[in-house]
Order: sequence, then structure tokens, then C-alpha cells
Amino acid sequence: MQIRTLFCFLALAFAGCTGQPAPADKPSPAPDREWWKEIIVYQIYPRSFKDTDGDGVGDLKGIIEKLDYVKSLGVDAVWLNPIYSSPNDDNGYDVSDYRNIMQDFGTMDDFDEMLKGMHQRGIKLIMDVVVNHSSDEHEWFRQSRSSRDNPYRDYYHWWPAEKGKPPYRYSLFDPKGDAWKYDSMTNAYYLHYFSQKQPDLNWENPKVRQEVYDIMKFWADKGVDGFRLDAFQFVAKDTIFPSFPEGFEKNFVEYYAMQGNLHEYLREMNREVFSHYDVMSVAEGAGRNFEDAHRLVDEDRHELNMAYAFEGVDIAKPGGYTLAHFKEVFTRWDSAFANNGWLSIFLANHDQARLVSRFGNDSPAFRIPSAKLLNTFILSMRGTPYCYYGDELGMTNIGFEKIEQYRDISAINGYKKVKNEGGDVEQYLKDLRFGSRDNGRTPMQWDSSEQAGFTSGPPWLPVNANYRQVNVEAENKDPASVLNHFRKMVQLRKQHPALVYGKYQLLQPEHPTVYAYTRSLGDEELLVLLNFSDKKSGLALADVATIGEVLINNYGTVEMDKDAVRLEPYQALVFSLK
Ligand code: GLC
Repeated sequence: MQIRTLFCFLALAFAGCTGQPAPADKPSPAPDREWWKEIIVYQIYPRSFKDTDGDGVGDLKGIIEKLDYVKSLGVDAVWLNPIYSSPNDDNGYDVSDYRNIMQDFGTMDDFDEMLKGMHQRGIKLIMDVVVNHSSDEHEWFRQSRSSRDNPYRDYYHWWPAEKGKPPYRYSLFDPKGDAWKYDSMTNAYYLHYFSQKQPDLNWENPKVRQEVYDIMKFWADKGVDGFRLDAFQFVAKDTIFPSFPEGFEKNFVEYYAMQGNLHEYLREMNREVFSHYDVMSVAEGAGRNFEDAHRLVDEDRHELNMAYAFEGVDIAKPGGYTLAHFKEVFTRWDSAFANNGWLSIFLANHDQARLVSRFGNDSPAFRIPSAKLLNTFILSMRGTPYCYYGDELGMTNIGFEKIEQYRDISAINGYKKVKNEGGDVEQYLKDLRFGSRDNGRTPMQWDSSEQAGFTSGPPWLPVNANYRQVNVEAENKDPASVLNHFRKMVQLRKQHPALVYGKYQLLQPEHPTVYAYTRSLGDEELLVLLNFSDKKSGLALADVATIGEVLINNYGTVEMDKDAVRLEPYQALVFSLK
């Protein structure tokens, strides 16, 4: 095995690589160094972060109050889930006014103060743009549904009932799985890929696109630093609505993603919005394959900055996952984007259960080391890391037992659907306990006081019972906490450009329990060893002599002799190589 793989990746950026070093005082500008590649994104689900007015729902003032905490993590940007006016059928992903703040969250003044507070601390803000659909309570939809000749009619997709039933389309959140909803007001069906209260906007209508660009400019003019485009891979549709083969819904992404003129719309958005501001852009979902993903983000295409692909986060299933699969997926994606395009790296977000419960081991014995290991992974891979609030503490799934405990429309309507179809509701509940989105949305655990310091009222979703041990206050004080490990790992990434830009090389792909890889840039090479098991694991190293300093270790010691390293359960190590 060869650990040492010297590699000149950014020849221009890092002098010494080319054999023709740039003058020391004048480093050559690197064409592919970008701020959005170097940032670490911290995702805040505002509903659950910090409540200041006692209504049990987080708010912008709460975020303002906690900005010093966010800063203390060392992260560079916040991605905020939607904060616009919304009737909250899907917690803000159903927008009724794109230029206003949801009442529960506060006011535009609060927003301005929050943005200012972030910028004062050197933190960028990425806004969530939800424009595959709006709320059915948006003025556009009120108009659109009011008559067939209303000027807003073509802002949405309508199918006149006299043509019969429209060809079946699958809805992710509908209790019957049907994406067409009959509306008696004009005797027509409207399309909703998500809930009935989330009608799909008609992107084939240039007026809709212009409205969206104007909205984005409104926020960019306020000074936001980036946009995350929600469900964007689904926006373009064949408005003839051809029939899809029976059973297509089992594989609906193949039929829904990257259709029609989607890339032209993105180039248009780039021309109209992105090119006028210093903003980053990312869309949720990267299509059906690498080709789709590259078409979104390759630099010469002028569409988006980075892909946010699901194959990695989708690996964890209720029955577990294999490390072989995990390594294979992340290695395949890395190599597909090694030379062109850029990826997001994440294992959790607001649509997933908790990081440590899905990918690690949340038992009392292993929660701490496995949460640290997972954060080490995210922060040592190539791509822009996205870290979800609470995962820096090792927060765990709450594991509701009954459907009445859930608040998430996808869980509630999914349950109804299984019941309607005579399916196995017990199995469904079991799967929810593992994978439900509400697991990842319980309130942030700030301290050991009532409701974990999140609110003085009854929280919209219960606080996890483990908050007395797992909370910011306790973990701040403990040098060996998951939180302090996270901070160290953030600093390590900042100190070592190899962790951002360096070549990734998988070592010992067949090792059953250890994920080992190097990251190398110029004359620096780092070795990452992650034991993804609850047993000790040995790893033979032919070239131990090259091992230098231990840069990160989630245990106090390293067991190593001349040709092997022995890792403790879930031990995570980063070494420099000589
Ligand atoms: C995206 C969001 C998810 C939301 C859905 C509909 O997948 O991440 O939270 O429910 O779109 O907007």
C-alpha cells in the first residue's frame, strides 16, 4: 500500500507545486479557488433553534441571540430553512408571501438585524428559495384558481375536468399519493407534487420565472450571500402531461427530475440574478446521474455552484448500511467531480433523522465517539460541508411511538396512505422511528433547564429527553465533548487547505470496518482513519514511517506499532504524513 501520494492539485494556488513557485509576496490567483468551496455551512431550522417569546416556536430574535454561539463553532455560513410568510402546512415550505417574514418568526426588522449580526461576525447567509411550488394561500394561487381567464391562471398547472381525469402523477405528501387535486371553483385539477396546499408553479411561463428572479434580487439586494433552491430538480414539466408507465412512482425521480428546459431556466437565473451579485447557489437534488449533476454545476455552463446529491445520505436504511457501500458511494462521487464541478458533503438535514442515530451508534456507550467520527468524516472530505444544527452536539432521534406525536405532514399523510391502502402501519411507524423528519427537528438543546433552554412555553415539538446530558452548556465545559471535537475539526479544516481542495484517495477499500483515505495538496498529505464499528479494528500500514503528527483524535491515545494501527470502537484519527 502506498500512503504517500504527492499530488499537485491547485498548481496555481499553492506555490511549490509547479516547480515554478510564485513570488512569496504575490501568490498567483488560483482560477478554481472560491469562497463557497472553502466555507463550512451550518444549517439552522429556525422553528427549532431558539424561541424568545415563549410561543414554543423558534424565531429570528432567537437566532440573533445565538449568533455568538454560531460564531464559536467556527462555521462561515448559515443556511436558513424558509422564513417567509406561510400557513405552515409544511413548516414554511409553503410560501404565501416571498417578501415577508413568517409571523411566528418575527419581522423584517428582525431579519435585517439578524443579517447585520451575521455579517458583523463574518458569517454569510444562504436563503432557501421554495419555487417549485407556492402555498395555495399565495395571492397568485388565489387569483389563479378564481377563474379560467384570470391573468394568473397560467402561473400554475391546470387540467380542465371536461378532458377527463389527468394522467396520473405521484405526490410525495398526498394521503392518496395523487398529485392532481380537483377544484370545483373552475371545474379543473391543479398539480401538486407535494401537499395539496403546495400547488406547483408553472416554470414554462416566463412571467413566473421573472417573478422568481425579482424575488431573489429583492433578497440579494438586502445582502444575502447565497440561495438554496428547494426541490428545484422538479420545476420543469412537460405541460402536455403524457402518461407515465404504471408503477413509475417507485422511481419517480427518473420521470420528474431535470425535465424539459430546466437547464435553460438555470442559465437564465444565472444571467438575471447570480451574475450580478457575489452569491453562491446550490439546488436540492442533483438529478438522475452524474451527467445530470455535472450539467448543473460544471463551470463553463454558468448554472449553479455546487451539487447537492442524495445518494450518500440515502445509504442509511432502517436495517442499517454497510461500510463497503458507504465508501463506494462517496468515492465514486468524489472521483466523478475530481476535475470539474463541486459537491456538497452532508449526512443530515431537516428532511432526515439525526446523524448519529442513522449513521452512527446512539447507544450510551458509543454516541459520543460515533458522533465525533461522523463529524470528522464530513469535515475531512472534498466538497463544501453542510452541518445540521444539533449534530455538533450529537443530538439523537426522539423515537416517537404513536402517529399522534408527529407534526410532519409527510409522516402524517404517509401514515394515512399506508392505512388507506391496507398496508402495514406498525412497520410504517417503526420505519418512522428510525427515519422520520421530526427526529431531526426537535428543539436545539441549549442547557439543562426546563425545555433545554429552547423556550419558556410548550415547544411545538417535544425536547429530546436526553437534553440534561446532551446540551451546549454542558458540552462547552467538557473538553472531550462532541461539540469541542466539532470545533477542533472545523479549525483543522481551516488550517489545512488539503482538506478542502486536496485530492482524495481511498485506502484499503476492502477493509470491513475502517474507512481510510488520504487528502493531499502540494507537499502536504493527511491520512484519515475512521473505525465505523463498535469493536476494535486493526489496520495494517506498510509505510508507518511516514506517519507524522496526530492532528485529530477522538480518544486520548493512539495504539500503533511498526506496521499497524489499532483503532478503538468508532475511533477517528487524522494524521499528517511526512
Ligand atoms: C424539499 C424540502 C422539504 C420540503 C419539500 C417541499 O424537499 O427540503 O423539507 O418538504 O421540499 O417543499
